[in-house]
Amino acid sequence: MKVAPSILSADFGRLSEEVKAVCDAGCDYIHVDVMDGHFVPNMTIGPVVVESVAKASSKPLDVHLMVLNNTFFVDLFAPLKPEFITFHLESEYHPHRLIQKIKSLGIKAAVSLNPNTIEQNLEYIIKDLDMVLLMSVNPGFGGQKFIESVTEKAKRVKDLILRKNSSALIEVDGGVNDKNVKDLKEAGVDIVVAGSFIYKSDDYKKAIESLKV
Ligand code: DX5
Ligand code: ZN
Repeated sequence: MKVAPSILSADFGRLSEEVKAVCDAGCDYIHVDVMDGHFVPNMTIGPVVVESVAKASSKPLDVHLMVLNNTFFVDLFAPLKPEFITFHLESEYHPHRLIQKIKSLGIKAAVSLNPNTIEQNLEYIIKDLDMVLLMSVNPGFGGQKFIESVTEKAKRVKDLILRKNSSALIEVDGGVNDKNVKDLKEAGVDIVVAGSFIYKSDDYKKAIESLKV
């Protein structure tokens, strides 16, 4: 299992140190939650702060957009050359077009599904995707409780990926801990995002290692 710490739960007063600490502790990506106060009832950070995060990080960035105006935000974050840009299927009229745009910028394209969004919507785009991000909480805040139904959903997405001969990875985001990660692994999940589980622990290295099942 690959691990992407969400910096949403980090101490923002010491952001560079917090990013370096999880990189040194063996994480695989740095997960950056971008919220616009419209798609979700919270706001986070923009490209100026994420540029500092990128400088502090020795690991690739995994940018998770939770916004209404996806194209505008893709243009804002693309110059930082993240590994992935993920947008929400619920906030995009033209997902297929936006996937092509992200890929044309040399960035891997991913879509995210809210807990209530059916995975059948992936049918006609799965072949073009580099990753599917399944939300296991309602987006907007760290520290929420894991919604169990995502584990079965991940299995169905894995079946779809295999059936369509897609190389898309599956990432799960929200409420992940050392208890539920094993079932996620069995379901075919490749990457877990973890915010509070890592940043609220006393030992980042131990927390990250416990997720690498
Ligand atoms: C929620 C974010 C998550 C969140 C995860 O909207 O997308 O990345 O920070 O935090 P935890 O692991 O605390 O649920
Ligand atoms: Zn996220």
